[in-house]
Amino acid sequence: MNRIIFYFSGNEEMAGKIAASVKAEAGQFILHHFPDGETYIRILSDVRNKEVFIVCTLNDPDKKLLPLYFLCQTLRQSGCRNIHLIAPYLAYMRQDKSFSPGEGITSVYFAKLLSGFVDELITLDPHLHRIHTMQEIYDIPCIALHAAPFAGEWIKNNIQKPLVIGPDLESEQWVEEVAKSAGAPFIILNKTRLDDRSVKISVPDMKPFSAYTPVLVDDIISTARTLMETIAILKPLSPIAPVCVAIHAVFADDAFRELSNSGAGTIVTCNTIPHPSNKIDVSGLIAGSIQSGK
Ligand code: R5P
Repeated sequence: MNRIIFYFSGNEEMAGKIAASVKAEAGQFILHHFPDGETYIRILSDVRNKEVFIVCTLNDPDKKLLPLYFLCQTLRQSGCRNIHLIAPYLAYMRQDKSFSPGEGITSVYFAKLLSGFVDELITLDPHLHRIHTMQEIYDIPCIALHAAPFAGEWIKNNIQKPLVIGPDLESEQWVEEVAKSAGAPFIILNKTRLDDRSVKISVPDMKPFSAYTPVLVDDIISTARTLMETIAILKPLSPIAPVCVAIHAVFADDAFRELSNSGAGTIVTCNTIPHPSNKIDVSGLIAGSIQSGK
């Protein structure tokens, strides 16, 4: 198969690893912003009849979407066979219902938009909660991979006597799997979100786990308020600083520094969004799904 891989700025490392593993040539294109903010795009590689992969992790999605759309349209105009989008982090999965009258269900709108211009989506741990499968909102084939075994393996190899802790009921789906791979016990806490930047967490009896290292596991760290609030509650209950393990290092604004200063021990993430906390490499998982086609 004739494969060619393009990537957006920031995705070089992930794209390089995938390209090496699936034997894809590197695609070249120019993306330029005019002084008025409009985008110029030009494909330099021959893409005729080729299977195109685009690596573009979708944190900060509003900025990326239009250039991504233009790239896809230009690739089609240049005769590519089809387009697979590799978005290790998929945005707009959390606003999955109208919480107040008049609110947009942006998960659905975003899904319809992407479905309109790529042929397949490959992603990792999309935040599926009230929407149970990608196919409920996406009209194209989607591959949703799971990083839990990789996170569990990291915990097993790096943390002594871990107790895996999920901050809310939503996290149970991946926390249970992480704990299983780590060979560790787990507990799930109860979280109520008060607004964009505040949450309230309640914790069950921790006495049976006093000798364990708390390992907080979440899919996304955005404002880090979920983990910071959990750490504040655990502080008087556990002498050991909690390790934080997340899949997607969104880290809005100053969230990483705030989390580091809040009493967290090591902070570890998967490399779905490039960040200094990336310690868990999931490129092999993505490449494997391309090789096997699932
Ligand atoms: C919640 O639904 C997610 O699983 C995460 O707990 C949440 O996105 C974390 O957000 P923040 O870091 O802003 O508290």
